[in-house]
Amino acid sequence: MQNRPSLPLDISRADLIQQAAQIIGDAWSSFDQARPIEPAISEVLRELTTKPLGNAPTPALLALEEAQGFLDTSLAQSRPRYFAFVGSSGLEIGVLADALASCFDVNLATSAKSADLIERQALEWVAELLGFPSGAGTITSGGMISNLTALTAARERALPNVRRTGLASRPCALYCSSEAHYSVSRAAEVLGIGANQVRSLPIDAAHRVNTEAVAAAIDADIAAGIVPVAVIATAGTTLTGAIDPLEELADICAARGVWLHVDGAYGLPGAAVLEMRDRFTGLERADSISVDAHKWLYLPKACGVVLVKNRGDLAAAFTHDESYMLHDEHQPYNAVDLTLEYSRPFRALKLWLALRVHGADQYRAAIARNIAQAQLCADLIRGSSELELLVEPQLSTVPFRHVPKSLIGNESVLNQHNLSLVKTMQDDGRVYISSALVDGKICLRPCFVNFRTSNGDVQTLIDVTLELGNKARN
Ligand SMILES: Cc1ncc(COP(=O)(O)O)c(C=O)c1O
Repeated sequence: MQNRPSLPLDISRADLIQQAAQIIGDAWSSFDQARPIEPAISEVLRELTTKPLGNAPTPALLALEEAQGFLDTSLAQSRPRYFAFVGSSGLEIGVLADALASCFDVNLATSAKSADLIERQALEWVAELLGFPSGAGTITSGGMISNLTALTAARERALPNVRRTGLASRPCALYCSSEAHYSVSRAAEVLGIGANQVRSLPIDAAHRVNTEAVAAAIDADIAAGIVPVAVIATAGTTLTGAIDPLEELADICAARGVWLHVDGAYGLPGAAVLEMRDRFTGLERADSISVDAHKWLYLPKACGVVLVKNRGDLAAAFTHDESYMLHDEHQPYNAVDLTLEYSRPFRALKLWLALRVHGADQYRAAIARNIAQAQLCADLIRGSSELELLVEPQLSTVPFRHVPKSLIGNESVLNQHNLSLVKTMQDDGRVYISSALVDGKICLRPCFVNFRTSNGDVQTLIDVTLELGNKARN
């Protein structure tokens, strides 16, 4: 007994694995098609969530069954009609890779032997897929941390040794579009740059940043003694999928010696599609880029990628010499010397396995299919006299609203109507959609990033919008 591990199970491992595999298999079958309604959580399960922690063990099969019940009544982004925010879709091989990575519980803080090679190769494969010339970088928990990681390196380059001295009242600034993701402001807050020092610049009719405004803002700051830390271009804004003019921004940054970061957390996989590549021209000139594999590379959360042109920039920002983590001549950097995190799970395994199992061509085809679905959605919207397309889709996001004839011209009532329509659609459960505010108009904002979504699902989105939108007016 003394030689047995603690934390025993009440059933055999084989039975446990069989049950877990059954749950996964059932879930995958239920994701193949949309389900007609979203089931409600049972009273038994709801009651369970009010109980204190018990001292005695619960039979593992019972606890797994309870977990299955909670999962089945949670909002699963893996379902084919999840169109809200920027979802993901729990690619099967990624799900299994997560289980395997947890099983071995490798830590990518210092040296993890083979896992280090896999992480390095996965980063190189992502760079190759997107057409970025460097595979140096790190895997993070997502876009928020990827952007913070890149901007920490940018701050260190703009103000050498700032990581040790602190900003000491030296004013500095970041430059981005008014529709950049708020992770830029978050980074400014965390890095001591200050959210008020984020120059949130105007956009054009296609929601891309006005590059003249970027250049003028940088020049005005330099003249005022404010240090420009970085321009953050967005390649696929969260709101509309707009891609900022990367080439022009690269010129502006090169002329002024300013770091260019491309936040492609959502949209950069679009660059994998060769017919789309020219929209991303200039990407190769960026100092750093971020892309979330847990968004449009279909992997389960969490898996973000940040790549830098020069690995030394990350090292300059993050390297530490600690007595419990020595460097030697064969290993100039520990993994932790290039990241914000210390203990770091083997997220790279799911990225590597997914790219290996599916290959670049399948990925390109899946992303192209989502882009075509966005075009189909836009066509269906244009084909209806009661729907209004607010922005032409540049990637796979299609902001639109329901405009019943009786409400034409009445903007505040239209806003209220579309806000409550989204709520009605969420309660209805046939499709899951989120609302957004585009050019002052409240709208529905589907985003197609799911490999399970069919063209029929796109049609259902439009049908349900019209059905429930018209019902609300009667
Ligand atoms: C453009 C952009 N950047 C950053 C993020 C933040 O990513 P994460 O949720 O992975 O932290 C998002 C999230 O949607 C995004 O769309």
